[in-house]
Amino acid sequence: MSKTYNIAVIPGDGTGPEVVAEGIKVINAAATKYGFKLAYTEFDFGAARYLKTGETLPDSAIDEFRKFDSMFLGAIGHPDVKPGILEMGILLKIRFALDQYINLRPVRLYPNVETPLRDKGPEDIDFVVIRENTGGIYTGHGGATRVGTADEIATQLMVYDRRTVDRCLKYAFELKRKRNALNRKYAAKPITLIHKRNVLTHCGDLWYRAFEEMGAQQYPELKRDYNHIDAANMWFVKNPEWFDVAVTENLFGDIITDLGAMIQGGLGVASGGNINPEGVSMFEPMGGSAPKYAGKNVINPMAAIGAAMMMLDTLGEPKASQTVEAAMIEVMKQMKSQAAGHMGMSTTDVGDRIADQVSKR
Ligand code: IPM
Ligand code: MN
Repeated sequence: MSKTYNIAVIPGDGTGPEVVAEGIKVINAAATKYGFKLAYTEFDFGAARYLKTGETLPDSAIDEFRKFDSMFLGAIGHPDVKPGILEMGILLKIRFALDQYINLRPVRLYPNVETPLRDKGPEDIDFVVIRENTGGIYTGHGGATRVGTADEIATQLMVYDRRTVDRCLKYAFELKRKRNALNRKYAAKPITLIHKRNVLTHCGDLWYRAFEEMGAQQYPELKRDYNHIDAANMWFVKNPEWFDVAVTENLFGDIITDLGAMIQGGLGVASGGNINPEGVSMFEPMGGSAPKYAGKNVINPMAAIGAAMMMLDTLGEPKASQTVEAAMIEVMKQMKSQAAGHMGMSTTDVGDRIADQVSKR
């Protein structure tokens, strides 16, 4: 009997449902080709449900999600909902509750995709950012007093413990080892820790020592490098070819992965995974709900298809994942642009063509 993977799907808001549909179309084609099955269960969490019922995500949903092999999310966000409610109530709640402690963000410029970096091409922009996904400022430690007065005080603390740092670093070192074995070009580059240890002398020191100790003791063959976050921002733009695996804490990672998205061709192509290597992971396109494009069949589904491709790999179907990626590359060559409304084809066309390429390969 062929294997069946159970996927929880949250299409979400705006263009979320449109791009998720294309992702599913493509991985269904891959499943048929490689002889496994994908079973989807849809959940309606998002702005519409919140605006109707006041509910973001009940605890019972988390228990439900634990039963799945993986999760696929479209987008969360709506102009009528105050910022923070859906982000914290849905996205961050899932990340924390399912302990998805790795945010995996490939930054790869595919051929025929435009980058704002003049003189840089696909051979220069091909790395992965590992963002720690459950700690740091995102833990919500801190508070505010005397709110609304001239003496108002607010704190928001960067919180890290050694275990949280170590498990993230381990994932990054393991990934680096795999990539080095895959490609000599990767092997020539270091694994880079990004932090701000010249100022964040406690958290930065914890990350740095943990990185140096783990590297020296368990991965002595891997070259190690360290960049301050501000300098790393500069190098991502000026010398992206220096990077292969970059690992960093949560907020720095949030910021620098958006920079990564821009240099790889924009939000239309940037995909990410919220990964619990021992549990249930969730894959998502990085672009938001893009309400102004919703329902027009013009949004680029490439990032969602890329997220679904990453999901196949994590499920244990690397061949299917590689075929989807090759098909994506083929169709990117046929597209005029990766920007919504300028692709030279519709949202559904992109999905159809990639699914077709998958079947043909
Ligand atoms: C991301 C997003 C989220 C984050 C928001 C929506 C809470 O920006 O996935 O990078 O800050 O992590
Ligand atoms: Mn972000």
